[in-house]
Amino acid sequence: MTHSSYPSLRLRRTRSSQWSRAMVAETTLSPANLIWPLFVTEGVDLEEPIATLPGVSRWSVDNIVARAREAADLGIPCVALFPNTPAHLRSERGEEATNANNLMCRATRAISEAVPNIGILTDVALDPYTAHGHDGVVDAQGRVLNDETMAILVEQALVLARAGANIIAPSDMMDGRVGAIRTALEAEGFHDVQIMAYAAKYASAFYGPFRDAVGSGGLLKGDKRGYQMNPANAEEALREVALDLAEGADTVMVKPGLPYLDIIRRVKERFEVPVFAYQVSGEYAMIEAAAAAGAGDRDALVLETLLAFRRAGCSGVLTYHAAHAARLLNA
Ligand code: PBG
Repeated sequence: MTHSSYPSLRLRRTRSSQWSRAMVAETTLSPANLIWPLFVTEGVDLEEPIATLPGVSRWSVDNIVARAREAADLGIPCVALFPNTPAHLRSERGEEATNANNLMCRATRAISEAVPNIGILTDVALDPYTAHGHDGVVDAQGRVLNDETMAILVEQALVLARAGANIIAPSDMMDGRVGAIRTALEAEGFHDVQIMAYAAKYASAFYGPFRDAVGSGGLLKGDKRGYQMNPANAEEALREVALDLAEGADTVMVKPGLPYLDIIRRVKERFEVPVFAYQVSGEYAMIEAAAAAGAGDRDALVLETLLAFRRAGCSGVLTYHAAHAARLLNA
């Protein structure tokens, strides 16, 4: 006689008290699983709220250092920096991206000097620097040129590494850029600078508030479907990940997050490497809007979505809720 079904077996038994739920929990979430994206702006002692990202601001370099210190104190291991480049420094080819004294490099240097125990992740792509809002150099037909863009991205990665970036995160989706950046980093002796590849980055409707934050939203001509992935595709994501790993990526990212948990799971199962998700600006804004409308409890929504990324196989999550979530987890 077996006891494999009701009433011998009651799955509610292990759920019946908090100590028991904790004992059988399959997934954990801690501040160490969070990366905090931060927006940098010119000026001193500035905080500029971003209308489409309620609760998120752009900070001047001095205040960014304070945010990095706050992150370290909360147990968040890494911050991700994004610049709001002043309009007069944006150009067709995005030259400001390779200026060793640009806003990103100054913020990176300031944090690495003041908060040496936190990781600094820097995006590599030209969209915060181009006058047209695309991630690369555009030809007369409006197409983003792969190889010409890649050469600039390599220079961008090098100025960021020299400024003290610990993780280079190419978000541009040009073919071959991870290998080219790895080769250049090795040649300059940056053996310990990691590459986190935005390996499976989709042409998504969820990036709108981010583009407002970096000031490229109103500028963008057309869309990014010629280089970012089609949301219909999953096999292609596995090919992207395989290539980026072969080219030397240390870790890979899937982006956006919640609508793409299936991709995260497949990447994790296939490759057994550290996988990260970017819970992007539109996802953040949806949670905030739901909470503001009384459709859900903000703290519970935040923690449940972050736990879901961990369950799907993520080592960590880039999230604008990082500091808030860490406070909840540390309480
Ligand atoms: C730039 C970049 C984008 C995001 C991160 N890096 C926007 C885009 O590709 O248009 C989006 C992040 C977010 O929405 O939070 N290449």
